Amino acid sequence: MLTDFEKHLDQLRPEIILRNLGVSDPDALARIVEHFTTEEGDRRDQIVLEYFGEEGIERIVDIITKFLLEPPNLPANPKILDVGAGSGFFTVKVANKVLLKYKKADLYAMDLTPAMLLSLAKKRTKIVPFIGIAENIKGSIEHTRKYYEVPLKFDAIFSTLMLHHSTEPERVFESIQKVLKANGKAVIIDLIEHSFKEFKTQMGDVHLGFKPKNVYEMAKKHFSTVKVEKISGICCECSGRSTGIFAAIVQSRT
Ligand SMILES: C[S@@+](CC[C@H](N)C(=O)[O-])C[C@H]1O[C@@H](n2cnc3c(N)ncnc32)[C@H](O)[C@@H]1O
Repeated sequence: MLTDFEKHLDQLRPEIILRNLGVSDPDALARIVEHFTTEEGDRRDQIVLEYFGEEGIERIVDIITKFLLEPPNLPANPKILDVGAGSGFFTVKVANKVLLKYKKADLYAMDLTPAMLLSLAKKRTKIVPFIGIAENIKGSIEHTRKYYEVPLKFDAIFSTLMLHHSTEPERVFESIQKVLKANGKAVIIDLIEHSFKEFKTQMGDVHLGFKPKNVYEMAKKHFSTVKVEKISGICCECSGRSTGIFAAIVQSRT
């Protein structure tokens, strides 16, 4: 039985928000929504588990949590956003750890695909899902605020495995910068460049990962502090193919 909020998510039509947000390639984004609606949705949690295994997942959660909890410290009631949160697989795990230290933290999960957000909503956590695009988070928030309350700015942002689906990855950094508070911080985890062209058709990928130096250059245009590092010892394994991952850490200007 769906709650009223879950029915709202189920009935969302991303083409309307995409039109309102003026994206450059709505057809490409519609294909991404179609892929995640039909191929992932309820299955996403199991898919992530197969990609990284329990140990890899724990390491990724630890990297994000450590980054959120280390200085510069968050305020007592931090607002934290997961961009491209999908089914909230990582959002829930990170939230559980962050809430141990910041009991008043509020967590939000934005994604392009309503079916993925519905999957998160069905977990019945306190995380607030909303529909939006990573390239225009501010516009997505303004759209959502017509229906319910989400903050205009966040103390911290994280994102896992979304960037390689973005049609305009540099705009993602610009977009994150616009919704981070002064002294805010963000961590983006994604795939390192690989050669598996079939990922585009099989997994709806737009980019075959990224070179860390290219990520650094994109991020540096919008943030004063940027660090991009390969995460050693963790690979994303898919049908016998294996790719490395990186973490890009950025901090907003004061
Ligand atoms: C590979 S999944 C990752 C989901 C989740 N972060 C995880 O690690 O399990 C990519 C997610 O990004 C979303 N997505 C793709 N392009 C997006 C965009 N431009 N803006 C927001 N979300 C996007 C998809 O709907 C999908 O849920």
